[in-house]
Amino acid sequence: MIEVENLSKYFGPFPALKNISFKVEKGEILGFLGPNGAGKSTTMRILTCFYPATTGTAKIGGLDVFSHSLEVRKKVGYLPENVPLYGDMTPRSYLHFVAEIKGVPRKERKKHVEEAMETCGVQSMAGKLIQFLSKGYKQRVGIAQALLGNPELLILDEPTSGLDPKQIIEIRQLIKSLAGEKTIILSSHILPEVSQLCDRIIIINDGKIVAVDTPDNLTHQLEKTSRLLVKVEGPSEEVIGEIGSVAGVKSANREGDVGDKGVHSYVVESDKGHEVRKGISKTIHEHGWGLLELRPLEMSLEDIFIKLVTKEEEGRNA
Ligand SMILES: Nc1ncnc2c1ncn2[C@@H]1O[C@H](COP(=O)(O)OP(=O)(O)OP(=O)(O)O)[C@@H](O)[C@H]1O
Ligand SMILES: [Mg+2]
Repeated sequence: MIEVENLSKYFGPFPALKNISFKVEKGEILGFLGPNGAGKSTTMRILTCFYPATTGTAKIGGLDVFSHSLEVRKKVGYLPENVPLYGDMTPRSYLHFVAEIKGVPRKERKKHVEEAMETCGVQSMAGKLIQFLSKGYKQRVGIAQALLGNPELLILDEPTSGLDPKQIIEIRQLIKSLAGEKTIILSSHILPEVSQLCDRIIIINDGKIVAVDTPDNLTHQLEKTSRLLVKVEGPSEEVIGEIGSVAGVKSANREGDVGDKGVHSYVVESDKGHEVRKGISKTIHEHGWGLLELRPLEMSLEDIFIKLVTKEEEGRNA
């Protein structure tokens, strides 16, 4: 559906995108993740024909975004970072206006507009002036606008930014409900969001792609050591000593201070692939201590993101 090859974008001498390449399959939800200024919006603006790349190519449905800009625009629905809405129009009149610009035939416009409003849950606000809508409803109008003309591909630049938690959940559900039917690219800073919504994640930093994978693979790939959380009732120093001497365990550390009830949590690190849980439970049992909890601590996407981004920076400064 999308093929991006060696795309670069310079603003004057400044490289905002440095030679990025990726592909997106039809029906996929792809997440762009990256810190401020990483190049997420720049990539999206090139794909939506807002401005051309400096070098490299991008194709949507086999059509080059530069040489077949008009055809490409028909395939793409775009929610920009800042949605250009007209405050003195109502959602209904604004969406009619957008449908007209997008070339939806006059006879079909009403049906399309009402459908888009229903999908995005803006019908209750259809007749209110946009300037009086809450941010969440404005965002919904923005998504409804992107859906008009029935595009195959949706490009949503930070669809949930600035919304309250309830609105965030609602917009995520809305995006999920569109999955499968549409190919979707969205950008976000919120790691749990992309991992929940997306089939694949592209992590961008400083104009370069630093990782592309499924949320699960990203988590696993970067874990060199496994970490366990073990909660034990027993004398803390002894517990640390015994767990530390189980085969395969690299380190055992207490979480927090010594309490008076004799129950503590320990973070145990072991080599990846070395199963240490049996050994730990055995030694605790043999000492007559109580094993209250034993569970893997997965590295969060947050940890991975920081690791990838700082690794990049270290590399650059070296
Ligand atoms: N029109 C422009 N002129 C000059 N520099 C620009 C322009 N647009 C973007 N940049 C620069 O290009 C870099 C990438 O910007 P971009 O907007 O793509 O980042 P982003 O990943 O979307 O960040 P954010 O999370 O803050 O939205 C930034 O350093 C930005 O300052
Ligand atoms: Mg941006």
